[in-house]
Amino acid sequence: MEKHLSKRTAGLAPSLIREISEQAYSIDGIIPLWFGEGCWPTSEIAINAVSKALKSGDHFYQPNSGKIGLREQISQYYSKVYNLEIPVSNLTVTASGMNGLAIVAQALVSSGDQVVSIEPSWPNIAETFRICGANVSVISLEVENKKWALDLERLLSAITHETKAVLINSPNNPTGWTMSAEDQLRLLNHCRQTNTWIVADDVYSRLYYQGEYAPNFLKIAEESDLLISVNSFSKAWSMTGWRLGWITAPKEMEAVLAMLTEFNIAGPAGFIQAAGSEMLKSGEGEVAILRNRLSDAYALTAKRLTNIPRLKFIEPEGAFYCLFRVEGIKDSLSLAKDLCQKAKVGLAPGIAFGPEGEGCLRLCYAQPSEVLNTAFDRLEAYFSSN
Ligand SMILES: Cc1ncc(COP(=O)(O)O)c(C=O)c1O
Repeated sequence: MEKHLSKRTAGLAPSLIREISEQAYSIDGIIPLWFGEGCWPTSEIAINAVSKALKSGDHFYQPNSGKIGLREQISQYYSKVYNLEIPVSNLTVTASGMNGLAIVAQALVSSGDQVVSIEPSWPNIAETFRICGANVSVISLEVENKKWALDLERLLSAITHETKAVLINSPNNPTGWTMSAEDQLRLLNHCRQTNTWIVADDVYSRLYYQGEYAPNFLKIAEESDLLISVNSFSKAWSMTGWRLGWITAPKEMEAVLAMLTEFNIAGPAGFIQAAGSEMLKSGEGEVAILRNRLSDAYALTAKRLTNIPRLKFIEPEGAFYCLFRVEGIKDSLSLAKDLCQKAKVGLAPGIAFGPEGEGCLRLCYAQPSEVLNTAFDRLEAYFSSN
């Protein structure tokens, strides 16, 4: 079959998180903490908006850039929360963050283009650029003072005039590492010199606890900068299954992004967009509830993980994950499988996020304290005897 398929499919690697989850879903009583989503359902605000939109006949094709009402709400959201003026002309609605990343990769990259990324990282970001033909080189985060850290000089020296784009996911999945405002400014200045795009994956921007949002390139960029921010309703608004997101890009690019949206999926459903609009208009309280839940869940996770034998807790600054090291292991995939069978806790193997993640496991702590405590009791028992 391989010879009948495109070259771009040849190097596609299956997700190791899926490998774990598909094998272990049916294990009776398993606590699944492997995916990047919370257990809390989407707010009634979105559900009522969908039902209203469907009943009022919102069943038809949508504009390529997205509903004007939703783009206006996104613009107002930036103004209310980030104190930023982002006109509608810079905004394109997408069917999720993943779809936004894919469209951006299609818009920017030709075969052989050089792209720089950071690892450990959610693999799909670099993968979608590779599918479009990019050669992706990787700079690794390191652990310093029990935190994930980036050697900015190493990143800057990897970005030359030949570099088409640098991919920054901050707060980062899986580490929770968050790029400081100072480093963002230095990177932006460097990319101005080399004419390199910054593609900021901002889907965890609101899941940051030292402020209402994490440091963001949009706050320091000028109109002429080669900056694209990809965002999503999945995480901060608990809407993973709805598949809705947006891209913020220079206005000269919007027509291209809109066309690519058409040639990919011709836009998310109108009633889903109506729900997104309503969430931005009146769902800020829901974001606050989630942020409070996550901040409690994080405190519990930090306390419990620090006290489990063999685990080296590494403090995240944002998102809703911990990527922690396990002393003495070299095969995180086998360990994750064994944990499913023997401890009935489902975690993502660190190797799923690149070689830098080997020796680690990722836990998504977006769960109530009872669930987390049971999971930590089981992990404690497992690591005390294995
Ligand atoms: C860093 C990052 N970017 C983008 C996404 C995509 O989110 P979605 O496609 O659900 O909007 C995810 C999902 O886990 C993620 O972790």
